[in-house]
Amino acid sequence: MRKNIVAGNWKMNKTLQEGLALAKELDAALKGRTVNCDVIIGTPFIHLASIAAAIDTTRIGVAAENCADKESGAYTGEVSATMVASTGARYVIIGHSERRAYYHETSPILMEKVKLALANGLTPIFCVGEVLAEREAGTHFEVVARQVEEALFGLKKEDFGKIVLAYEPVWAIGTGRTATADQAQEMHAHIRQIVAARYGEEVAADCSILYGGSCNGENAKELFSRPDVDGGLIGGASLSVEKFMPIIEAF
Ligand code: 13P
Repeated sequence: MRKNIVAGNWKMNKTLQEGLALAKELDAALKGRTVNCDVIIGTPFIHLASIAAAIDTTRIGVAAENCADKESGAYTGEVSATMVASTGARYVIIGHSERRAYYHETSPILMEKVKLALANGLTPIFCVGEVLAEREAGTHFEVVARQVEEALFGLKKEDFGKIVLAYEPVWAIGTGRTATADQAQEMHAHIRQIVAARYGEEVAADCSILYGGSCNGENAKELFSRPDVDGGLIGGASLSVEKFMPIIEAF
């Protein structure tokens, strides 16, 4: 059966020292505690190796927030999936709306990233989500379906089965305006249906689909209570243990 997952996405926040301190504090807070979900933290590249070495990575999985769409070579400033894996990170966030919007990452590019992540044993956390104008125009189901199909449906069944999906409506990210639990459920069920049509009911039932966008300690319980919402991808509220822990405990 699919897993419940609460994953943090620190984005471009925290110096190495601050990030290390936060990761250690979270690790200590989770020690000896039983939680009903997998916990992951997504951190900037430069934090990965230090954090993976400083915490119990069986308790907290470590994720990169991106990886290159090329294997290796003359791509100044890029970080490959092989390099990410060599740090001890086991996950990589791919296709975040900020990467799509500000760094022009298109489906063909994202498809390459997903393939390279999988080839290096990393679990992609693949993000999809519509912008406000698309929701208002009523095209959100189509938009999200296209994002999933274009980047992922070339994968073989066993590879697709290794992916975690995250639905992040762009209008809910960092805005304080969360999707309602019904809106999240409706979209997650839609995504699961598309996956079922392509890969079969079993793969669809096993696929964890996380919700992201202004998720916090107050609204997490209701969001996670919906049958197709398998957890959260958390931005702002993952930047302190005080705010992140109630979301983990919402399961
Ligand atoms: P916020 O939780 O800050 O809205 O960010 C969500 C997000 O983008 C996680 O990837």
